[in-house]
Amino acid sequence: MKQIYFDNAASTKVDERVLEAMKPYFTEKYANASSIHEMGVEAKRALEDSRVKIAKAINAGRDEIYFTSGGTEANNFALKGLFFSNFPKKNHIITTKIEHDCIINTCKWLEKQGAKVTYLDVDKEGFVSPRDIERAITDKTFLVTIIHGNNEIGTVQDIEAIGKICKEKKVLFHTDACQSFTKTILDVRKQNLDLATLNAHKIHGPKGVGALYIRKGIEITPLFHGGGHEKGMRSGTENVSGIVGFAKASELADRKHIEKMKEQRDRIINELLKFPGIKLNGAREKRLCNNVNISFEKIEGEVIGAYLENDGIMTSAGSACMSHSSSGISHVLKAIGLSDEKAGNSIRISISRFTTDEEIDYFLEKIKKILGKFQKS
Ligand SMILES: Cc1ncc(COP(=O)(O)O)c(C=O)c1O
Repeated sequence: MKQIYFDNAASTKVDERVLEAMKPYFTEKYANASSIHEMGVEAKRALEDSRVKIAKAINAGRDEIYFTSGGTEANNFALKGLFFSNFPKKNHIITTKIEHDCIINTCKWLEKQGAKVTYLDVDKEGFVSPRDIERAITDKTFLVTIIHGNNEIGTVQDIEAIGKICKEKKVLFHTDACQSFTKTILDVRKQNLDLATLNAHKIHGPKGVGALYIRKGIEITPLFHGGGHEKGMRSGTENVSGIVGFAKASELADRKHIEKMKEQRDRIINELLKFPGIKLNGAREKRLCNNVNISFEKIEGEVIGAYLENDGIMTSAGSACMSHSSSGISHVLKAIGLSDEKAGNSIRISISRFTTDEEIDYFLEKIKKILGKFQKS
């Protein structure tokens, strides 16, 4: 049976060209980038070239990129590192109710250490109001952290407007851009970003590698102490092959892919909305190019997901991380006003630049049949 992968928000296929770029760093150029011999220098050069490429992709300086083991670590580094540098003088963080679990759970942990966290509401489409952010800022606030493109509902926040407010109020602004990197504009200068989280496995790179952009001059306490790698900010032998793959993946991203995915996404949305009782979750326009999230009237998302899987189509009833949560109900769907039942009746379909029109035809044919079956019964 055909296998169709529509769960690209959870992770993506590694591009063959990324794999090719990585290979030599496992078997030929495998030295430690801190070693001073020729092979070490070669590894270090690859590491630094990759840093330049990632920096260029977001209009940052090369000395503003710190490699990590992925998005979770970068988010933990940003929040805890800034808390340790600011507490007790300042202890207030502003965020939203629709952040990824690695932000929400870090905030919850920081509350136990003395932080005060404001979790702002979002509207029905998942937008946080820049005015609400402005109003929430106090003289104790050191950080505003807002997800750029939401991993469940795809809503893309106006980070430029938020960045402007943070700059005026002299509060640091961090965004989790794991889902939006390469899928919409991310320009740390234009958008007034002080920190930004990126990772590789959402952009056809390897798992277990990411980066935190930290604007030059920001005081942040490192979380990992050791041999002083990454200018002492993140010790641990660098994952050179992974970092090379990450940089290659970012280089391969192209605006043309965004346009193609947008067309495919809209075709899926428009076809699905023809069915009675189907509702789109998240924004219609300012939405990640690869994300569709819908709710059904009376059918559980997991049931539809299981039927689709029978036809070889992989989707997600929520985000991959939610499968670890005890309630199983998406905090993001609840935050945009869905009842527990409606939140449970939802699925996420996330495409990639490798998605073909034929795969979409097949998906639409199968889901129409499945929904038809439920309508009759
Ligand atoms: C928005 C967002 N932030 C953070 C993460 C975590 O990244 P990683 O899997 O690299 O730790 C993910 C991935 O699931 C994500 O979608």
